[in-house]
Amino acid sequence: MTTPLAQVLTFPCGLVLANRIVKTALQEGLGTEEFGVSSELVQLYDLWGASGAGLLITGGVSVDRRYPGSPACVVLDDVGFARGQRERFEQWNEAGQRHGGRVLMQLNHPGRAIPRSLCRRPVAPSALRARDLKDDIVRSAPPRAMTDEEVQALPDQFAKAARFAQQAGFDGVQIQAGHGQLISQFLSPRWNKRSDRWGGTLENRSRLLLEVLRACCASVSPGFAISVRLSAIDGEPDGICLDDTLQLVDWLNAEAVDLLDVSVGGLAQPAMLGLQGRHLPIHEGRLGQPGLSRGVPALAYARAVNSRSRMPILVSGGFRSAAVLEGAITDQYTDLVGLGRSMCLEPDLPMKLLRQQDAQFGSGEVIHSTSFWQGIVRQPCFFSIRKAFIRSHMSNYQSKLQKLGTAFR
Ligand SMILES: Cc1cc2nc3c(=O)[nH]c(=O)nc-3n(C[C@H](O)[C@H](O)[C@H](O)COP(=O)(O)O)c2cc1C
Repeated sequence: MTTPLAQVLTFPCGLVLANRIVKTALQEGLGTEEFGVSSELVQLYDLWGASGAGLLITGGVSVDRRYPGSPACVVLDDVGFARGQRERFEQWNEAGQRHGGRVLMQLNHPGRAIPRSLCRRPVAPSALRARDLKDDIVRSAPPRAMTDEEVQALPDQFAKAARFAQQAGFDGVQIQAGHGQLISQFLSPRWNKRSDRWGGTLENRSRLLLEVLRACCASVSPGFAISVRLSAIDGEPDGICLDDTLQLVDWLNAEAVDLLDVSVGGLAQPAMLGLQGRHLPIHEGRLGQPGLSRGVPALAYARAVNSRSRMPILVSGGFRSAAVLEGAITDQYTDLVGLGRSMCLEPDLPMKLLRQQDAQFGSGEVIHSTSFWQGIVRQPCFFSIRKAFIRSHMSNYQSKLQKLGTAFR
C-alpha cells in the first residue's frame, strides 16, 4: 500500500507538488556578510533538493536590510538584487529545484524580533519599554512605533522582493505573518496598541497582512504561488486567539492564497518548537483528536482552520513519526505536512518516508532533550534558564545547518 504522503497536490495557481512532504522554513544563518546568498546556502539546498520533499520553503529572507532578522540572514531588496547577486539567487533556487521539488522563498520583516547587536532601534507597531520585552527569546532593544509612512511602505517592499524572487526562478513566496515577526506583531492586540487604521479592531490589525498580500499578488505573474504563514494562536496573554484567526481565514479565502501554513507560538512562547514559554500552555488536543495531536501543537488547531479554509493547509512543528504524519493527511487535519529540525538531522528523510522506511525519526536528541528540559524550564523561578535553553536549542540547529552547508565542499 502506498503512503498518503506520496499523493500529488496542485495549488490554486496551478503549481504541482509531487508529494505532501514540505521542508518548513528554517533560518539557515548562511547569508554572506553583505546579506547575500553564500555557496554554503546553495550547497544546503542541493542536499535538500535531493531529499524527496515535494516543497522546500526557505528560511526567512528579510525585505529591508536595515532590519535583518539575524546576523547571517539573506536580504532581498534593490541593493541585494542589483549588486550582481541575481545569479546567486538563481543558483539557490536551481539547487532546490534540480530534482523536481518546488521552492518557495519566505519573506519576512522581523519588527522588534531583531538582536540588539544588529539594530539599536528596531521598529514595531507600538513603542515598547525594556520591561515589556523580558519574556522575548530574542534579545532586542526597545522598539519605536512605526510611522504611518513606514507602514505604508511595507507592502511595496514585500512586493518588490516577491517580483525579484519570481525573476530568480522561485516557484513562489511565503509571507511570514506568524511567530511574533512584524506582521504578527500588527495582528496581535497585545503588541499593537495603535489608534490609526493599522490598529484597534481585528480588521485594522489585519490590514497590513492583507495589503502586503495584495501587493505581492499584483507584482507577480500568474502561476507564481503565494503562501501565508500564521500562528493560529500565539499563547501570549491578550495575544492572537483562535477566533481572530478563523475570522482572518475567512478574509484570506477571498484572496489569491495558494497555501496557508498553520503554526503556533510567538516571541515569548516558542510553541512552534513544541516548547512552552511562561504564559498560556498551548493545549494539545483541545480542538483535535488528542492522540493524533500529541506532540504536534499546531495540529490541535489545524482542523478548525481547515474546516473554514478554502486554501490548502500546511501544518508543522513536532512531527516525529510516519504514523502521525500519515494520520494528519488521511484524517484531513491538513493537506501538507512540514518537517523542520528533522531535516537537519536526516536530510534524506522525505525519501525514506515515501519508501515507508522510517517509522520513527527526529532522534532522541530532539525529543528527550526537550521533554526533559521542558518540565524544569516551565517553572517561573527558572525563567532565565528557560530562555538560555531555548536560545541554545536554536543555535544548536543553526550549527547543524552550517555543517550541512559545508559538508561536501
Ligand atoms: C533553527 C531554526 C530556524 C527557524 N527559522 C524559521 C524561519 O526562518 N521562519 C519560520 O517561519 N520558522 C522558522 N523556524 C520554525 C520552523 O519552521 C518550524 O516551525 C519548527 O522548527 C517546528 O518544526 P519541527 O518540529 O519539524 O522542527 C525555525 C526553527 C528552527 C529550529
